[in-house]
Amino acid sequence: MTSVEIRQQFLDFFASKQHKIVPSSPIVVKNDPTLLFTNAGMNQFKDYFLGNKKSEFSRIADTQKCLRVSGKHNDLEEVGVDTYHHTMFEMLGNWSFGDYFKAEAIAWSWELLTEIYKLDKNRLYVTVFEGDEKEGIPKDEEAYHEWKKWIPEDRILFGNKKDNFWEMGDTGPCGPCSEIHVDCRSEQERLNTPGKNLVNNDHPQVIEIWNNVFMQFNRSKGGSLVPLPAQHVDTGMGFERLVRVIQGKQSNYDTDVFTGTFNAIENITAKKYDGTDTKEAIAFRVIADHIRAIGFTIADGQLPANTGAGYVIRRILRRAVRYYYSYLDHKQPLLHELMPVLATQFETVFPELYQQIEFVSKVVREEEEAFLRTLDKGLKRIDDIVQATTNDIINGKSVFELFDTFGFPLDLTKLIAAEKNLQIDEAGFALEMQQQKNRSRAAATLDTEDWIVVNEEKEEGFVGYENNLIQTRVNKYRKISAKGKTQYQLVLATTPFYAESGGQIGDTGWLEFGDETVEVTNTKKENDTIVHFAK
Ligand code: SER
Repeated sequence: MTSVEIRQQFLDFFASKQHKIVPSSPIVVKNDPTLLFTNAGMNQFKDYFLGNKKSEFSRIADTQKCLRVSGKHNDLEEVGVDTYHHTMFEMLGNWSFGDYFKAEAIAWSWELLTEIYKLDKNRLYVTVFEGDEKEGIPKDEEAYHEWKKWIPEDRILFGNKKDNFWEMGDTGPCGPCSEIHVDCRSEQERLNTPGKNLVNNDHPQVIEIWNNVFMQFNRSKGGSLVPLPAQHVDTGMGFERLVRVIQGKQSNYDTDVFTGTFNAIENITAKKYDGTDTKEAIAFRVIADHIRAIGFTIADGQLPANTGAGYVIRRILRRAVRYYYSYLDHKQPLLHELMPVLATQFETVFPELYQQIEFVSKVVREEEEAFLRTLDKGLKRIDDIVQATTNDIINGKSVFELFDTFGFPLDLTKLIAAEKNLQIDEAGFALEMQQQKNRSRAAATLDTEDWIVVNEEKEEGFVGYENNLIQTRVNKYRKISAKGKTQYQLVLATTPFYAESGGQIGDTGWLEFGDETVEVTNTKKENDTIVHFAK
């Protein structure tokens, strides 16, 4: 089965259970201050869970573009190093808004996995919430009871709050959840170690594919759990993992979700992906993963930038550039060339990238070019810094220099340092950053006093074409303080100083008052008045 068919079967299955199929919401979140990016399929339905709005449909299903690179759900460091975490991934989901609950959600997930996708029942494990005394939530007996109808009890495992109580963020809808895990190891390995010992243990072949959340609470700002007005179902299945399991692959990257991109990278770089854990193979995975986050996010309206959500995208992009530059030995912009491959692959499911492919490719190319201009020097500089580091930690000042001068995001420096068995001083970096912010704030604060008029006659004018040295009078002056320094601005009755305009530099010179000489550092026109800046 192809990935396209697998996605379609999910949607068809839930349509047959009276679910309305809706499009993915944008990956960039604009109207929820608690999130930068969509991190779960349920985000767009948050208000339905909280009871703030009523959904037109009580059952919905879709495939949602998600990004888990910031906040509560952040998988960035695993991406590419392992074979089953992603920055951007598709989450297949079905929802009940005050309609069906645990019995149906559990029965349908079992039906879909075992009867439609025909996964081997003996390789599946499920987890249910063991309860939490501190939160005052009991063991989820109801979910256990429902699962017992489908799966032997020794494959129903109890899990703690970390794994079996799902929360969107620090606040928001939440509830106990029940996960479905699949054991993809060989028969022999399964005989040696039972799969149940490896569930939720970071084993690359025993992985979670589906999470069924039973939304019952809102985590309020103060941290307490407030029961929701109704009970809901929120499920999320990692599409790339599901495809891998159905296609019988050992890695998400070996499925047809990624092979088109891998072929394109191989053609452009003349390198070959071998699926190992070498830096070269990791680079393939990182690039194939990151272009999805970059492409879909820009297509959804978030341009790379220096702050907020835009900086998250810039960081991901720079991380990808560094991987191809260092480990595929490719020194030209590469990511933008992969965008059309991605756009065509997702033309029908997420058409927004295809529709804007020229724009997105151009933005990506410009970003790559900008970073490539400083990357080489930055990498040399980091080598020098590493040489000069006598303990195991790169100091905050150096990390800040790499950030400020060479555009190295903190996490990129951290990654490069880790490759050299070093850590970075994040607190020292934060301090340097704060000091720079204070400096720019001081620079931005201009304290301007009132003009002091000493001569009412209006005869200001420029005479510098005829004379460089003249006798004149001061019409008015005022004191200005900026960057902690004090200067004066003066307006002369007539002046030989040419004022800065149209790219020309304003004249400098001297004013003599009796025995005293004052230096003029610049001359500008402000509201048609020629103003001299004097020390
Ligand atoms: N919200 C849950 C998750 O993201 C299930 O959809 O895992």
